[in-house]
Amino acid sequence: MQRGPYNTISTTDIRFFDSLLGPNRLITDPDECESYNIDFPSTVRGASRCVLKPKSTEEVSAILKYCNTRRLAVVPQSGNTGLVGGSNPVFDEIVISMKSMNKILDTNELAGVLTCEAGCVLENLENHLTTVGLMMPLDLGAKGSCLIGGCVSTNAGGLRLLRYGNLHGNILGVEAVKANGDVVDALNTLKKNNTGYHLKHLFIGSEGTLGIVTKVVIQCPPLPKAVHLAFLGLASFDKVLKTYHLAKRELGEILSSCEMMDRLSIDVSINNLDMKNPLTSYENGHEFYMLIETSGSHLAHDEEKLSSFVEKAMNNDIIEDGTLTNETAKINNIWGLRERISEGVLRDGYVFKYDISLPFTSFYKVVEVLRDRLRDPRIIRISGYGHLGDGNIHVQVSIPEYYVDVAAQLEPFIFEYVSQCQGSISAEHGIGFKKTKYLHMSKTSSEIAMMYDLKKLMDPNGILNPYKVLMPVTTELQS
Ligand code: FAD
Ligand code: MLT
Ligand code: ZN
Repeated sequence: MQRGPYNTISTTDIRFFDSLLGPNRLITDPDECESYNIDFPSTVRGASRCVLKPKSTEEVSAILKYCNTRRLAVVPQSGNTGLVGGSNPVFDEIVISMKSMNKILDTNELAGVLTCEAGCVLENLENHLTTVGLMMPLDLGAKGSCLIGGCVSTNAGGLRLLRYGNLHGNILGVEAVKANGDVVDALNTLKKNNTGYHLKHLFIGSEGTLGIVTKVVIQCPPLPKAVHLAFLGLASFDKVLKTYHLAKRELGEILSSCEMMDRLSIDVSINNLDMKNPLTSYENGHEFYMLIETSGSHLAHDEEKLSSFVEKAMNNDIIEDGTLTNETAKINNIWGLRERISEGVLRDGYVFKYDISLPFTSFYKVVEVLRDRLRDPRIIRISGYGHLGDGNIHVQVSIPEYYVDVAAQLEPFIFEYVSQCQGSISAEHGIGFKKTKYLHMSKTSSEIAMMYDLKKLMDPNGILNPYKVLMPVTTELQS
């Protein structure tokens, strides 16, 4: 990839940023810039020598206005937990870190509407909402580090999407700054407001390529009075599907999460992170595991429903073993086994991660197909886990270190396979830097053409997160 037609940062530019932000919110020391240049799984590395930490929308606006005039490329960064290389510079783009914009602005308890700055940590918002009987409509393993603006910009899915839907529905409004510094105030707080174009959607899931999100308004559901979790062990993927079908029918409106993991996925938490499997009656464990969560308003009623569902599944020989709990500590431990997979697998070495949507008929087959294709002794594991209830599987292929020939065995094969199965090459992590080449496998040419039109309209100089989502125009023309 070639560096785009951008200026390099000069001492005059640094002086401008210093006068705007002061020395504490301007980082130019190469060692301090390092963590902003590398992604969470250490798979991409940029070479930025300048990180800016604005504290207000006005500062973001002044930065972008200046960068647009000077043709300096920027990359917005929130918690830097993204998994597709979207939040890191590719060359020397200026990093705009949103961490200092972390104020909660308003909580409307009755309407269940929270307004906050984009740099609030997801877990802090969750803790704040608990005090007023509300909750965030999304939850992810990265909640302690990811920021709400980063989640909105990737349209993050996570563990509760099955129940509460995605952020296109839950984000009521946004404030965003365009490439030229203009502020778009779309801070709608109403549930219904059908007045023309719904501009917030441009910023949800556009991964920082159309504007920088500075504030968000979130529709927050009531905190459930009763939460139960069933952790199940199963012998085959066919039985996983049967259990999901039964769970939907038996648990109905209280079903709030339905996740699956195969044996090699849970092994990551058990062997790499030293966690304990609560299901102990089968000496060799199980081929598959499921987490089925209910959230409702009546403890006894929900408990009875979940117990009767598990009993039915046991009696019909669908599940091998299971445990139920409503104790917070136990619930957190079990969720930890699932949520910490992405952290634990990094201890294997280098990890190829694929975040795909597939119809249930081919949902797990992709893992088997890859195991068949890559019979290579260097491979540590090929595993599958994820958000079964949303048709989204995460496939991980780990090896001690990066090997080009293994990468060539995997890509573009896996994306072509997903495309042939009518799936999506990105269910929830986005396109970022890593998947731009494959965008056409999940989007039609007319959609991609309109994406380029929008990009040109919103960011004519292409300064916002270049090389991400869309291939740079010059490269596109050459290929
Ligand atoms: P970053 O990684 O900093 O940024 C992500 C993208 O958004 C980048 O392209 C960046 O340029 C852009 N961006 C960031 N902030 C802004 C802004 N204010 N305005 C405009 N653009 C911006 N994802 C899921 O969907 N579901 C999961 O269950 C899930 N679990 C995860 C678990 C772990 C342990 C980890 C490490 C990641 C997980 N992810 C998951 C990946 C997910 O994309 C992120 O966790 C989250 O959405 C990114 O938030 P962030 O604050 O870290 O954003
Ligand atoms: C998850 O569901 O755990 C995530 O999306 C993160 C990952 O795939 O690593
Ligand atoms: Zn996920």
